[in-house]
Amino acid sequence: MYFRALNRIFTKFSFTNKCETALYTRSMACSRYEYVKSYEQDDKILPNVWIVIRVDGKKFHKFANAHKFEKPNDENALNVMNAAGIAVMEEFRDIVLGYGQSDEYSFVFRKDTSAFKRRAAKLLSYVTSMFTSSYVLSWSQWMQRPLSYAPCFDGRIVLYPSDENLRDYLSWRQADVHVNNLYNTAFWKLVLESGLTNQQAEERLRGTLSSDKNELLFQEFGINYNTLPAMYRKGTILLRKRVVIGSQDEQKGRQAIVPIHEDLIGNEFWKQHTEILGKYVPGKYVVSSLNRHLERQLAKQLEKEATIAEI
Ligand code: GTP
Ligand code: MG
Repeated sequence: MYFRALNRIFTKFSFTNKCETALYTRSMACSRYEYVKSYEQDDKILPNVWIVIRVDGKKFHKFANAHKFEKPNDENALNVMNAAGIAVMEEFRDIVLGYGQSDEYSFVFRKDTSAFKRRAAKLLSYVTSMFTSSYVLSWSQWMQRPLSYAPCFDGRIVLYPSDENLRDYLSWRQADVHVNNLYNTAFWKLVLESGLTNQQAEERLRGTLSSDKNELLFQEFGINYNTLPAMYRKGTILLRKRVVIGSQDEQKGRQAIVPIHEDLIGNEFWKQHTEILGKYVPGKYVVSSLNRHLERQLAKQLEKEATIAEI
């Protein structure tokens, strides 16, 4: 009791001093309530760790049904996610890699970023809200039907101390796409083409290995799983690159955030894109032929010359 009273006097006293000093130095509104600011917690993130922010759609099974997403993958809906991911990376220059699949996106900040003084709540809330508002803004560019309600995304921050931990995190997310997509592809083929009920399809796939599902797709539906679009099988990796289109002079390459759909579990990816773990200088990305999606995602960025020059 005695201690609490003393503490209150002390807090008030130091606040008054701070406030009086502030009054002399700059015109700042001070009130006797201002001491409540001292209750805010310092949430500065440790130095020298990889900062990963992952956003994930809230109840997207319902959202996907409400907006009639194609099953198991809706190419356009995935492109809305990619457009939102690109917008986040355009805004936050210290993000070195984005990785998206299904209704989630992960963003990796440079280890030494000083963005928002590394304050966790600021980083997390800015990235999550930027992603959400960009998702809504990009919707009509990819989708035919209008949004029938506001989508929302949760967000979390995870810190990884070593490069190995970061690679394992990304490998975990990419392995997740593989497992889910193989299952979902087989499941929806059984339901939509063989006429099984959801329960029957579930029973048919229960206890099967990856090789069994590959075999089922090939034998019953003539599908070679490995030839399905890489975006569905591998997810989307967003990297900052100097883009050179066709035979364009390499010096004229402009920086943009490029969506690629490669395997990131093996070493090859990390050897090819050394800029991610090394000193960050965007690598070169030569586009021999623009497919229509890449063209659309890049065209918007390349139009914004002034912004890109600053990256
Ligand atoms: P919470 O994240 O816990 O709120 O639930 P959720 O329903 O969002 O589940 P979760 O994030 O685990 O999974 C994402 C869900 O989004 C999938 O299970 C699908 O139902 C749906 N989804 C994401 N992408 C697509 C797509 O391209 N097509 C279809 N049809 N559904 C998709
Ligand atoms: Mg979700």
